[in-house]
Amino acid sequence: MTKWVVKDKDVFWPSEEMKKKANMSDPNIYGESLKDQVSFWASKASELFWFDKWKEAYQEDPPYFKWFVDGKTNLCFNCLDRHLDSRGDRPALIWVPEPPEEEGFTLTYRELHEKVCRFSNVLKGLGVKKGDRVGIYLPMIPETQIALLACARIGAIHTVVFSAFSTESLKDRLVDSGAKILITADGYYRRGKPIELKEKADKGVEGTEVEKVVVVKRLGSETKMKEGRDLDFNDIMENSEPECEPEKMESNENLFILYTSGTTGKPKGIIHDTGGYMVQAYLTTKWIFDLQDDDVFWCTADIGWVTGHTYACYGPLLNGGTMLTYEGSPDYPDLGVWWKIIQEKKISVFYTSPTAVRMFKKAGTGWIDKHDLSSLRLLGSVGEPIDREAWIWYFEKIGGGNCPILDTWWQTETGGILITALPGIGPFIPTVAGKPFPGTRLEVLDEDGKKTKQGQEGYLVQKKPFAPGMLRGVYGNPKKYMDTYWSKYGLDVYYPADGAIEQEGGNIKILGRSDDVMKVAGHRMSTAEMEDAINRHPNIAECAVVSKPDEIKGEVPVAFVILKNREPSDEMKKEIKKTTDKYIGPIARPAEIYFVEDVPKTRSGKIMRRILKNMLRGKDLGNITTLRNPECVDRLKEIIG
Ligand code: WT7
Repeated sequence: MTKWVVKDKDVFWPSEEMKKKANMSDPNIYGESLKDQVSFWASKASELFWFDKWKEAYQEDPPYFKWFVDGKTNLCFNCLDRHLDSRGDRPALIWVPEPPEEEGFTLTYRELHEKVCRFSNVLKGLGVKKGDRVGIYLPMIPETQIALLACARIGAIHTVVFSAFSTESLKDRLVDSGAKILITADGYYRRGKPIELKEKADKGVEGTEVEKVVVVKRLGSETKMKEGRDLDFNDIMENSEPECEPEKMESNENLFILYTSGTTGKPKGIIHDTGGYMVQAYLTTKWIFDLQDDDVFWCTADIGWVTGHTYACYGPLLNGGTMLTYEGSPDYPDLGVWWKIIQEKKISVFYTSPTAVRMFKKAGTGWIDKHDLSSLRLLGSVGEPIDREAWIWYFEKIGGGNCPILDTWWQTETGGILITALPGIGPFIPTVAGKPFPGTRLEVLDEDGKKTKQGQEGYLVQKKPFAPGMLRGVYGNPKKYMDTYWSKYGLDVYYPADGAIEQEGGNIKILGRSDDVMKVAGHRMSTAEMEDAINRHPNIAECAVVSKPDEIKGEVPVAFVILKNREPSDEMKKEIKKTTDKYIGPIARPAEIYFVEDVPKTRSGKIMRRILKNMLRGKDLGNITTLRNPECVDRLKEIIG
């Protein structure tokens, strides 16, 4: 067996074999790439196809910036057409359905290309033009990647809504983005049961500008189709031409909008451009996941999140790689299903979340021992801090003590990974993400904007020139863009709202969110959004939502609610959970609900969530005498117990 890592005390390094194999193994790349970041990225952009070369590689008008100005390209062309001659018959997408008795299938580059072209023509036939927004509300089936790629091909802007989000969340996003088309499915399989999606979609499009709904009949159910509005995916694909010219897109034209949660009640539509995003998706996949011809890459993220966009669709395809998509849940029919897939499909690069790792760790190694995982050579982690125990378990039990762990930090806003170790360079240190990706400048600053000393806690920031994959704005809300990212340290410093510590060797340890955003099982959830949802219940006078640590999910939401015209009861708790289900989705369900008479507030009436948070963590509450209602704190302590 090839050895991929070597140990040196508590730190791991790539073995000689790994260094030899890796696409990037020169430690000088960090220093070299920073001498002229713009040229560095421009030279990487040149590895991809452009109809017309850019006139200027980087341009700034803070807080906005552009990459590859006047360059014309097409992301879908770079993902598919570019590989047809050299690797048209290579597998692009391996699809594994959830029902164990159902057979999956593989699409080669040529097959995927044909389907994408057909669907591009379908969209065009429905009147979709460059710049139009297309809503996508689909489960983990190949039609999802086909839909994304088709949008990219014709220059339509896709906005994907996670299939587990509620009707109301879907509607909000469709309205905000002004989508005229929605692509959805009748349903999908989850834990052995067919899950209905179309009825949710039907309600979600009511009162929006959506004119046509394309329905993938995944379940083959007798779903009701609305005359004149709904179209069956398969029917329209059959009658569509298999060739479609890709649209020439100026690099800075928009590729997608993806909504993410912040500190206010409404999610923000994060805008990504075409060329910059493409280059970062391409290079990070090449150097971090090190995709090569004999690799099979499995990123377990749902396409509803940015990880799914960049590493379960665009990044692997830009590299001509082979990727796997699994429809189902990690625990159905049992907790062995992922390991069975890794063995059968010979997965070599595996990318998942700390929550999944902790879930399997708790379940014990019985499920893993039954399977041969020796095809693995790289393991990735994303979405939340990974604790030491989970890291070591992932390393030893899944990786057999033989695979580097790439703890990758990034955000919906950054489009691609910005901090990690590189597999051919290392080091791989438990709980430490690693160095800023070559060509990017990330630092840790104190409250006053001064660089912290090594080992000292501070805020993570990015300095210019900003990485090409970065967001280009908040859809329809320039003020929110300015306030959220460019007001803390000014227009030259991007503020992601994460705490961090720089350590020896310039490696960065991420501490997690420093704002009122929590990561529940790696999903980004907003305190304010959950409060707004709960407050819509007629018997709620007021509420505060904060996170509490959880052994598996990292964090879970806890709600403190003040009732009106109603007594506390289990029934009331159920109704609160139904309310968060309705306005957000089951992932926003509070893990615990406390009925209280009051919540701590400042003199001006703002809820002091920090006090509640510290209380749930058994931390010192600090000075509470400046509160308007310090007397409620003792009462709350009693209730929490
Ligand atoms: C937030 C972004 C990154 C794609 C999926 C999540 C947290 C992300 C790590 C990591 C510690 C991490 C941060 C960040 N986060 N990666 N490796 N270690 N924390 O994207 O939903 O936009 O969430 O996830 O707090 O700000 P997202």
